[in-house]
Amino acid sequence: MPAATSRASATGSRRRSVRSGFLGTAVTLLAVTAVTVTAESPAMAAIGADRGAPGQGDPYFPLAGNGGYTTGHYDLDLAYDPATRQLDGAARITARATQELRTFDLDLSGLTVRGVRVNARAARWTRQGQELVITPRQALRKGEGFRVDISYGGVPENITDPDGSADGWITTDDGAFVAGEPLGAMSWFPADDHPLDKASYAFRITVPAGYTAVANGVLTSQRTTGGRTTFRWNQAEPMAAYLATATIGKFDVQQYTTASGIPVYTAVDPREAAGAAPALAQIPAILDWESTLFGPYPFAAAGAIVDHAPDVGYALETQTRPLYDRAPDVGTVVHETAHQWFGDSVSLTSWQDIWLNEGFATYAEWLWTEQHGGPTAQAQFDSYYARPATSSLWAFPTADPGQGANIFASPVYDRGAMTLQKLRTAVGDAHFFTILKAWARGHRYGNGTTAQFVALSEKVSGKDLGALFHTWLWTAGKPAQP
Ligand code: TRP
Ligand code: ZN
Repeated sequence: MPAATSRASATGSRRRSVRSGFLGTAVTLLAVTAVTVTAESPAMAAIGADRGAPGQGDPYFPLAGNGGYTTGHYDLDLAYDPATRQLDGAARITARATQELRTFDLDLSGLTVRGVRVNARAARWTRQGQELVITPRQALRKGEGFRVDISYGGVPENITDPDGSADGWITTDDGAFVAGEPLGAMSWFPADDHPLDKASYAFRITVPAGYTAVANGVLTSQRTTGGRTTFRWNQAEPMAAYLATATIGKFDVQQYTTASGIPVYTAVDPREAAGAAPALAQIPAILDWESTLFGPYPFAAAGAIVDHAPDVGYALETQTRPLYDRAPDVGTVVHETAHQWFGDSVSLTSWQDIWLNEGFATYAEWLWTEQHGGPTAQAQFDSYYARPATSSLWAFPTADPGQGANIFASPVYDRGAMTLQKLRTAVGDAHFFTILKAWARGHRYGNGTTAQFVALSEKVSGKDLGALFHTWLWTAGKPAQP
């Protein structure tokens, strides 16, 4: 078990952008400018009462997601050819209007739209930046269920995140590494691309024979005819769009069921197989251990995708089946598996609250280390606290990263985990683990906010925790007391 300091540096290089600093800042300025221009363009000014909003109103990503409806289900029928990089898609989205809608948006970046139907009738549509603006033949009434069919295609281009890292459909030397956090889903399918709108998914992905296409949930069939293989995947529990994947490559596949009954599917790039084997062997033990701490595993399937995508620089907690850009260590598998409870089943309401994902997943690593012969969580806290006031660890308050470019930085991950350790020592182990379980159960398949987590902690413990959270979540700089 590595010491807390080496775990920390592993986190730094594995899960966060490898490109921060100068480049990241430059890209951030460009991205923010682009959003502002789009939001204030004349087309946006013309939004009427019966146009769904072009965004969910998230302060960090104003155009992410859309207003006026909620999705229930995505049916994605995809064909991909790694040789030409051509993606052809047919998306069928089932949704419900939450207001009268003459016009509504989906998020889609790049690609060519060939046709749009609403309730089986051809609809008018235009592209405005990342907004696909759809006007059905007949306006939708408030409360009305409707179906949108979009046929599209082209060579997908990945998104560049505000922090400069690549996100979305990322081409590899043998296929594609498909990771959507925070804004990449729209690079490969039309989506209501904000975690507030969760839906079930079905995937049908056709690739040349010899390639494997891995998505979320349960593999329901796999058929090869005429030199092409079609994989069908079913993700029944609600999922945020950013957690969807359709990763394609030449993979070694293993399938088994854990002793506790969870079907596991792992797809591993042969170049990473030897390095990945020790950590992947721990998947059943990690699922059981986390189920004991956090409550029942929330999904019908589990697994891993270990790709060879060395330029990506991070792993992602794709729902049911985390996606690794290289052979992961055990700590990274513990982290991405913990996200299945914290981030995937319980999703963010606003990207500002990202510590509810990353602080919790990082704290799961601390607990694993503590319970497997390594330093205690308190010792790990202490070694972080020893960092000087000038360290990037203290660059901004845990629950207030300030902008989208900071959502994967150290104060979110490490100071987020420190906040949970402070909570644990304040309320005691019994209350602390009750809080974690109650959080996972109470917001299962839904969303949560920092304010709700604070309220739950106070309710379970019967303590006023205002000062603790004020210091550890909301106050800039290094706290005066550990
Ligand atoms: N959520 C991922 C993790 O902590 C990290 C991540 C996803 C990321 N997308 C990113 C980091 C983009 C940097 C840039 O496991
Ligand atoms: Zn994480």
